[in-house]
Amino acid sequence: MSYLLEKLEQEQMLKKDEWRELIANQSQHQEEATLKACRIRELEFGNKIYTRGLIEFTNYCKNDCYYCGIRRSNQRAERYRLTKEQILECTDIGYELGFRTYVLQGGEDVYYTDERVVEILKCIKTRHSDCAITLSIGEKSRKSYEAFFEAGADRYLLRHETGDKTHYETLHPKTMSFEQRKNCLRTLKDIGYQVGCGFMVGSPGQNVKMLAEDMLFIQELQPHMVGIGPFVVHHETPFRNQKSGSVEQTLYLLSLIRILKPNVLLPATTALGTMDPKGREKGILAGANVVMPNLSPTDVRKKYDLYDNKICTGDEAAECKFCLSNRVKAIGCKLVIDRGDAPGWRK
Ligand code: 5AD
Ligand code: FES
Repeated sequence: MSYLLEKLEQEQMLKKDEWRELIANQSQHQEEATLKACRIRELEFGNKIYTRGLIEFTNYCKNDCYYCGIRRSNQRAERYRLTKEQILECTDIGYELGFRTYVLQGGEDVYYTDERVVEILKCIKTRHSDCAITLSIGEKSRKSYEAFFEAGADRYLLRHETGDKTHYETLHPKTMSFEQRKNCLRTLKDIGYQVGCGFMVGSPGQNVKMLAEDMLFIQELQPHMVGIGPFVVHHETPFRNQKSGSVEQTLYLLSLIRILKPNVLLPATTALGTMDPKGREKGILAGANVVMPNLSPTDVRKKYDLYDNKICTGDEAAECKFCLSNRVKAIGCKLVIDRGDAPGWRK
């Protein structure tokens, strides 16, 4: 039995050195971590897996993150924006398929002013008042975040990307700030959103100390959701010659996050499914309880090209829903028609 895993389960926190030791000695702890995490997921959520319909509505981005395929400097990216009508059509298709959460994700696109985002949020809420809306559109002011919340956004995803300041600065240009990013997350939480942070596993230059910082940041922020996936190389970025992250390490960290926060909403991500054909199933068996299939129109799917070989770019929403539903069934779980709010959260 692992003393550190026992302590994590009982106290739901560890000190930095303990995190380092736990993360460094993966081979020693992984089996037990997986068992614990899976048991905790079942205790908290039974065999239910929540689904979120992902709508990637713009791939324009004013940022230039070194890892990301839709970074501003990638001249080869074919840019697109969905119109309000197209977004609403996605939500209608999603509703029929049983989705009760929509995730509106996009690059930091100046075309989508607060007014435009607010208008879209209001229209979705009018048509589908029983659905939750998650926004994932990057760093904004408190005023903007408040306006979105007011207009109907319930949740916000903003990965912190890495818990280490120096590392953050090697992944992003000088125009972006680590403190600013963390402050956005604190502001979102303060406003009352269900908040999701997260990071890439195996991004260039990452080490055990940095991953320990990621866990400490999760301990500090106490987010409702945590999105993690392996870093996957994109051939048109400065990191084109780097190595992608490891599936096994991602699975291990998913388990540690589940044990740290028993009722956290934890997706088995598309990046995980990209690096391993059974990645999402393995993610669930390591403690994840959410999947996020794509609802974007098929003609734009390939263009939301964050990393190479992204899966599901040729499939209709209904195909992904059907596919995932079968995959989840095969491992003894079931997709549910439910908003899947964070336990205890109320607007
Ligand atoms: N590999 C894996 N994940 C990536 N993201 C962006 N680029 C990559 C990549 N090359 C992730 C970031 C971002 C989220 C939307 O996608 O963590 O926050
Ligand atoms: Fe998209 Fe399987 S989830 S095809």
